[in-house]
Amino acid sequence: MKNLILGIDTSCDDTSFAILDKNSKKVLENVVSSQNNIHSQFGGIMPEMASRSHLENLTLVFSQVLSQAQISPEKIAAVAVTQTPGLIGCLLVGTSFAQGLALQLQIPLFAVNHLEAHLFSPFMGTEPMFPCLGLVVSGGHTAFYKMNSCNDIEVLGQTVDDAAGEAFDKCAKMMGLGYPGGAVVDKLAQTGDDKAFEFCVAKVKMGKQYLSFSGLKTALRDHVTKGGELDEKTKRNLCASLQKAIVDALCEKLEYFLSQQKFLVFALSGGVAMNSLLRRRLQEVCEKNHVKCFIAKPEFCTDNGAMVAHAALVKKPEDSLFSLSVQASRKIQARKLHETIRSQKT
Ligand code: KG4
Ligand code: ZN
Repeated sequence: MKNLILGIDTSCDDTSFAILDKNSKKVLENVVSSQNNIHSQFGGIMPEMASRSHLENLTLVFSQVLSQAQISPEKIAAVAVTQTPGLIGCLLVGTSFAQGLALQLQIPLFAVNHLEAHLFSPFMGTEPMFPCLGLVVSGGHTAFYKMNSCNDIEVLGQTVDDAAGEAFDKCAKMMGLGYPGGAVVDKLAQTGDDKAFEFCVAKVKMGKQYLSFSGLKTALRDHVTKGGELDEKTKRNLCASLQKAIVDALCEKLEYFLSQQKFLVFALSGGVAMNSLLRRRLQEVCEKNHVKCFIAKPEFCTDNGAMVAHAALVKKPEDSLFSLSVQASRKIQARKLHETIRSQKT
């Protein structure tokens, strides 16, 4: 009996393939080929270059994951691939490859929503628990979700402009810290004074469930341009103050949602969930509110194929597909995720 699921993610700038054992639910191998060296020259992701790079890397990363797991393709029981949301060309590369492979091997193909893959990633190696308050905080998304079950997920609130990761990246770029800058800000912040600068995240008139991070880059720009070249100490202080503002805003929002309705657990995921201060502070908020806190392991925070295979396993999709179309749009956030997925399958 074949029991291995291949997970593929090419939604943005990482080409990732992973092998997950269906029975033990263990990730056997997770290979991520990052394109940071390409996009860092431009200070942001170049979509066309990203899809071309996926095309070049795809077969290499596939071979690598098979050889690391010491298996042949015939051992794969099913393929799970990110279908939406993401950069359209990048999604097309991954889904085309997945369809070809599923056809050739005559195995099921599962279309996975990238946001759901992040949402379930804190539960890898265990079972999801409900009702769950999920937070995906990444370079492209910052949103809170109510997860009633694996197939009943709705958006509670989100950023109205920049995602938290985008705020980290844009501010890091202004300070000359390269791209993507979240991890560098995290590191420099550890030796900076978080009270040196007063940054705050603006309140959104539309309602308490919303967040806005776009004002942070404007606030930071004033300090960067005022003083000309930044010295090391100022950079560290700016990083610490910026990080504190983002973390404070997310903690405040978590408190707000926990005060609104009863949740058994909280689940934190996405690239920004790598941030050391954010992990610690959100955990503290959960402890204070007697809610169990699950945080994705660092290796499964940024985009990866393992979370895609895991999402397919957790959701136990009834219908497997041999062909699928992709969708770049983020408007998925305005509707129930499962409804959108269902409508895409028809
Ligand atoms: O989930 P992800 O790989 O991509 C999207 O789906 O968007 O997240 C990438 C984001 C980038 O914005 C990056 O700067 C941020 O995660 N990031 C961090 C840290 N590590 C990665 N942000 C803050 N602190 C970190 N340690
Ligand atoms: Zn992602």
